[in-house]
Amino acid sequence: MNRKIHVRTQSHQYSAHVGQNILSDALEATLPSQSIDELFVLIDDNVFEHHWPEIDMALQAHTNQLLRMKVPEGEKSKSVEFWSEVMDFLLNNKVRRNTPLIVIGGGVTGDLGGFAAATALRGLPLIHIPTTLLAMVDSSIGGKTGVNHDAGKNLIGSFYQPETVIADTRFLDTLPEREWINGLSEILKYAAISDQNIFRQAEIFLKKDFKSADPVVLIELITTCIKIKADIVEQDEFEGGIRAYLNFGHTFAHALEKASRYNTISHGEAVFLGMLAAKNLSELTGSNFAEDYLDKFRSLYTYRVSKENLSLDELTQHMHSDKKRTGKDLNFVLLKEWQHPVVKTVKDIQLIHQAWSAALNEL
Ligand SMILES: NC(=O)c1ccc[n+]([C@@H]2O[C@H](COP(=O)([O-])OP(=O)(O)OC[C@H]3O[C@@H](n4cnc5c(N)ncnc54)[C@H](O)[C@@H]3O)[C@@H](O)[C@H]2O)c1
Repeated sequence: MNRKIHVRTQSHQYSAHVGQNILSDALEATLPSQSIDELFVLIDDNVFEHHWPEIDMALQAHTNQLLRMKVPEGEKSKSVEFWSEVMDFLLNNKVRRNTPLIVIGGGVTGDLGGFAAATALRGLPLIHIPTTLLAMVDSSIGGKTGVNHDAGKNLIGSFYQPETVIADTRFLDTLPEREWINGLSEILKYAAISDQNIFRQAEIFLKKDFKSADPVVLIELITTCIKIKADIVEQDEFEGGIRAYLNFGHTFAHALEKASRYNTISHGEAVFLGMLAAKNLSELTGSNFAEDYLDKFRSLYTYRVSKENLSLDELTQHMHSDKKRTGKDLNFVLLKEWQHPVVKTVKDIQLIHQAWSAALNEL
């Protein structure tokens, strides 16, 4: 089964292909029929180890020369220093403006590679081949690219849409379970802000052997998530309004990631805790949820941080450096009810601390 979703933003239109074993066909549909002189590839180190021969074969069919750079795993690669190394790789090899940059990996490689494509020669054609569940359902869609700064996460970046996204679920065969659960957080985010049915579809993750779930079910779930994101991004490409809803849980999550120096908590784990905190804050500011749909997924998460090592003051301080903040007060995406997100300013720090405390009880 092969699904194709059209993403029509103001600045650019493109397709996202979703399916199993679709890489060669999707490349065929994307790249020009005559061989391209050079193709530049940025690839996550682990994906290289597991999948290079098949990727190499699929790409060699389209070019005379493949130039490749590996990206070490982890948030540390989403840095200005590593971005600069990518620039050396591209520019010293005389990349040209019409040469596609193919970015293969999870959200880290995708955000870094997207930013490199946006900035080298003021813009190279970008092809995303996401290889984590998180990157398939979220980070490869919508054009947010960037790197981190000591002052906070994703503080340097741009909006830059790809030419194509190819989400081939065969790559997920080698994805560690923990990374599947990271992707689940963003899937649950779409359920919370937009589509109640996703909570039920996501129950496949509660089964012990979820990695061998029916590929058709998985492809449908990924497609549903991409459609939600595409729909929001089409209405608000540059986050002047409703795109902010996609940040449900993320203001808390980014503070947690920063407090953990980006190494003891993953983005997905932080987003799950962040959504718990955002749900708590929604209740503390007047919402009333008859059911807690996130609850049944809690046991899937295991954390390497403990709450004793986190200070509420520090976490709240980190939220002040989040780039979504426009005034001096903190804004949060909260829920009036499930699937009814709203942006609220919360001035009472005690309420924010209470929301944190309840979520951090998970640690
Ligand atoms: N741009 C956006 O809109 C957006 C949205 C959400 C998240 N993000 C960003 O995405 C990043 C997180 O992305 P992620 O969760 O994909 O993490 P990641 O890119 O760090 O990948 C997670 C791990 O999986 C490994 N890996 C990737 N594909 C694999 C495969 N097929 N088989 C085996 N191992 C594989 C990687 O080497 C890494 O160790 C964060 O930096 C976050 O800020 C961006």
